[in-house]
Amino acid sequence: MKIAIILGTRPEIIKMAPLINIYRQNRADFFLLHTGQHYSYQLDKVFFDQLKLPRPEYNIDVGSSSHAEQTGKMLIGIEKILLKEKPATVLVEGDTNSVLAGALAAAKLGVKVGHVEAGLRSYDRTMPEELNRVLTDHLSDYLFAPTPKARQILLGEGIDEKKVFVTGNTIVDAVMQNLELAKNGKDMMRELKVKTGQYFLVTLHRQENVDNAARFGSILEGLSKIALQLKLPVIYPIHPRSRKKMSEFGLKPENLTLIEPLDFLGFLQMENNARLILTDSGGVQEEACILGVPCVTIRDNTERPETLEVGANVLAGASSERIVECARLMLDKKDKWVNPFGDGKAAERIVKIITEAGNG
Ligand code: UD1
Ligand code: UDP
Repeated sequence: MKIAIILGTRPEIIKMAPLINIYRQNRADFFLLHTGQHYSYQLDKVFFDQLKLPRPEYNIDVGSSSHAEQTGKMLIGIEKILLKEKPATVLVEGDTNSVLAGALAAAKLGVKVGHVEAGLRSYDRTMPEELNRVLTDHLSDYLFAPTPKARQILLGEGIDEKKVFVTGNTIVDAVMQNLELAKNGKDMMRELKVKTGQYFLVTLHRQENVDNAARFGSILEGLSKIALQLKLPVIYPIHPRSRKKMSEFGLKPENLTLIEPLDFLGFLQMENNARLILTDSGGVQEEACILGVPCVTIRDNTERPETLEVGANVLAGASSERIVECARLMLDKKDKWVNPFGDGKAAERIVKIITEAGNG
């Protein structure tokens, strides 16, 4: 039975990599369908090269546009390929427009849908990711919940418990498989002239933060104050969306070191050695928690509440004062917490469940 793995953005490539590797080792009948939502080298090909992933059999090159146009183009392109290839199951990961389009195109054709990272909720329907998650979960036949909490959320929404499997999150697999390589790889800290535990690492790219000039400005002001008051460099590998918005709004952040987005091993090394991570990314909140590095989340909510519960993360919102306060609070957090996202065998479990069901 054939499997289609649909992906389109940086986090999907990284989190699908452990599954792709298993299917490849098993010589399974599978193919990769890239939507082309991310296409810049640093958001896309760099991960295929570094993680030694096979080139996608299909890339429908949708590129950037409005939500409707982007999602619509994906639906049309994905449907054609599914009709031709006739997979038994389509696998999607996360909450991007590529995920929703992949799940919807497949479900309408009667192809089974497996959602990796199911059951996450921010309960904020103004976020495009929340709409994508809810809809994808309700279209899916296999819901791979990373934690028991995510499973409970799905059951609470009336989803049949027979469809829900707690597997852990494949990001733990990816971190475990790559951490040693990251430690022994290119010395990013030397390149950036920073020392272990002596810098802050930032990522910031979510629509609700960077598409709003006042909000983005307030966040950058908070980060600048952190650099000045706490006297450590703040390194910000900047997503192209944020770079574009920064220049559109005429924002000129002070005291921050802006660099190009990093490859996965370089970024993992920088996360692992940071004093503190400040982010609005979903994957980065998880990785900080897995690596034992304290995190400040620059958002009003999170669909990863497990990170808050274990004491690895706090929510700062977007006020500059509150961001500085949260950084001070988390700076010397020495407590060790247990990683709530699994044991690094999520991908193995997912493959086994689909194979045993006779759908892949
Ligand atoms: C998308 C996801 C977001 C995820 C992020 C991962 C949706 C709705 N959003 O956001 O959930 O956290 O990916 O990084 O699916 N751009 C480039 N090069 C690229 C891709 C984008 O320059 O390869 C620029 C373009 O100016 C584009 C903008 O970034 O307009 C936004 O890209 P888009 O794919 O719409 O959303 P992301 O912000 O990347
Ligand atoms: N990441 C990376 N280089 C960077 C920033 C992030 O490789 O410069 C990785 C990070 O390790 C994580 C993933 O990108 O695995 C998170 O993706 P992103 O923040 O773009 O999306 P989100 O998780 O918010 O959907």
